[in-house]
Amino acid sequence: MSKPKALVTRQWPKACESRLKALFDVTLNTDNHPMSLAELQDAMRHYDAVFPTVSDKISAEVLNVEPLSCKLIGNFGVGYNHIDMGVAKARGITVTNTPDVLTDCTADIAMLLMLMAARRAGEGERLVRSNQWTGWHPTHFLSTKVTGKTLGLIGFGRIAQAMATKAHFGFGMPIVFYNRSPIAPDLIRHYGAHALGSIEEVLEQSDFVALHCPGSPENRHIINADRLRMMKPSGILINSARGDVVDSNALINALRDKTIRAAGLDVYENEPHLDPRFLELDNVVLLPHLGSATEETREAMGMKVIDNAEAWLRGETPPNKII
Ligand code: DGY
Repeated sequence: MSKPKALVTRQWPKACESRLKALFDVTLNTDNHPMSLAELQDAMRHYDAVFPTVSDKISAEVLNVEPLSCKLIGNFGVGYNHIDMGVAKARGITVTNTPDVLTDCTADIAMLLMLMAARRAGEGERLVRSNQWTGWHPTHFLSTKVTGKTLGLIGFGRIAQAMATKAHFGFGMPIVFYNRSPIAPDLIRHYGAHALGSIEEVLEQSDFVALHCPGSPENRHIINADRLRMMKPSGILINSARGDVVDSNALINALRDKTIRAAGLDVYENEPHLDPRFLELDNVVLLPHLGSATEETREAMGMKVIDNAEAWLRGETPPNKII
């Protein structure tokens, strides 16, 4: 019997591509180019399963092709705001994602951004690399301490809790958070955390604010000009969630006017075309969406996509089925 046809939109770790070949008649993206709208539409017309990732916009325009062949979208990644879930559901497509395996590495990147932004690591590195460093002196590149400061988390899911573990138990940071749904009291006690009633309270009380909420339409620009004004002038904002959770224009103004001290960003509106005004600011650390980018995690993500696809092939409900 012939194998079902599958398309992988970007290059995956080799071990994952090999395992996929055993299950599907698979087309790989050998030159790793970002796929165009026409290519993604073509994929929907000609493959039983499509394996996209965060950089592929699986819009209504992509999903509404005729005739539609695709019955499974196995997303390489946990966030799925790049997929029009309403249309995917209406078209009867099963969609899966890859939670858990990227939790620690993404929290590590949030910690890295927090440390880099607080300790001016980006500026320091640029100074050394430009051969401008004239030597140690007592007031050189003064920054702000991280240990013992209050960390505020917007969202208290898996990645936020992993960051809370590292920050609280490693850096002695008190934790406050806001989560839309209630969190079990013993879990809150475990982190010595305080659940606050609103985003505003977190912004007002925290020295560092880290965003860990999904990039859903409801969360678009939840950090806007009004809310940035609620942060302490010494406050530092960390975003490793999704770019459009923050109004970039408002953040650029806040950083330029120094109404907040600094920011650390791994994600942007309109990636990879971030607002060029960010590049002119010294008080922002900019990383290229590296949250899950370790060999271990990317391989585990690929394997998780395949575990889900295998379950789907057996006619079972995939363990990480979203719809
Ligand atoms: C995710 O899994 O959502 C990461 O941001 C990479 O896609």
